[in-house]
Amino acid sequence: MPRTPPLPRKFRPTGGRIVAEMNARKARSLPENGHAAPVVDLGPLDGPHREPTYATPGARSRVFVGDCREVLRSLAEVRDSKFDLVFADPPFNWNRAYDKWHDALPEREYLDFTYDWLTLCVRALRPGGSLWVNIPDDWAAEIVCFMKGRMDRKPGALLAMQNWCIWHYRFGQNTNARFINSKVHALHFIKAGGINTWNPQDVLEVSDRASIYGDQRTMNKNDGMPAGRRVPLDVWYGAYWGRIQGNNKERRHQHDNQLPETYLARVIRSTSNKGDLVLDPFLGSGTTGVVAHALGRKFVGVEFSAENAQRAFDRIKSGLTRPLGADPISTAIFPKRRTMREPR
Ligand SMILES: C[S@@+](CC[C@H](N)C(=O)[O-])C[C@H]1O[C@@H](n2cnc3c(N)ncnc32)[C@H](O)[C@@H]1O
Repeated sequence: MPRTPPLPRKFRPTGGRIVAEMNARKARSLPENGHAAPVVDLGPLDGPHREPTYATPGARSRVFVGDCREVLRSLAEVRDSKFDLVFADPPFNWNRAYDKWHDALPEREYLDFTYDWLTLCVRALRPGGSLWVNIPDDWAAEIVCFMKGRMDRKPGALLAMQNWCIWHYRFGQNTNARFINSKVHALHFIKAGGINTWNPQDVLEVSDRASIYGDQRTMNKNDGMPAGRRVPLDVWYGAYWGRIQGNNKERRHQHDNQLPETYLARVIRSTSNKGDLVLDPFLGSGTTGVVAHALGRKFVGVEFSAENAQRAFDRIKSGLTRPLGADPISTAIFPKRRTMREPR
């Protein structure tokens, strides 16, 4: 079954005393820039998971089985902040039947878990490295506020938020009770203090001006990008961007929660280079690994379930479902107009 969002959580009545205590707790942990985000103390970065459970020849791609909070604490590359790119698609606490992980934590526990792995992922990044988080409406606000707590505008700030992208899909869970959910957030943060990688030329699409209007202005533009091409919008959809369900060729049947390969291709191509080191702390069916490996990146994946990890590793070795198209395509939602617009 594909992952589908549950109906909204009901508001629970909270007594005034509890609210007052909560406010007092928040006030104690307020960081300097005013965001109510707790500061997580990572403790010693040392642990037993130093050897991967699976590795491709030359250890270009490695898979570890375990809780990512423990595995990441064990890795020298985390302690020394060596990762160029981290992509995290965590459990959403939607009570999904993951093989081993209990996906229905009390809210406070889920948030503490979230803040722990986020902090470890930030630590894992090199200065200038990119962190992407795939997250639904339920938790996007908490994550952005937490990360903003690390975005003081003063020198020494730890992070910047580069993009708030939306992955838009057409087949959300049907309901008459509210608007049908059709998106997940793809949050992009950059660690301060180094040069960040940005390869727009590797992810271009055909501009609407070119595909709908055949507008000469886009063919004659001089912005450093090829004629008729543009950097994609921050809402992502189109061919091969659908949820992985039904008879989708990419679908791995034991997985409830797969992302499309084209999503990971956009993230990996735009924000890392060949030979870079990529981390996915929630490997699942292995989409990040398979795409990173196919695109010539080094890869570390962590997965709590031993069975998922083994299947993900097999997938990394067997390669992409289909070649990643090299030619930019159009995401225009209108057909070509008959009357072409003349250049001014
Ligand atoms: C949303 S899925 C990831 C899906 C993945 N992006 C894909 O395309 O297949 C989350 C995965 O994280 C795993 N997981 C949950 N908690 C974990 C933890 N603490 N450490 C490592 N893996 C965990 C679950 O078993 C599940 O396979």
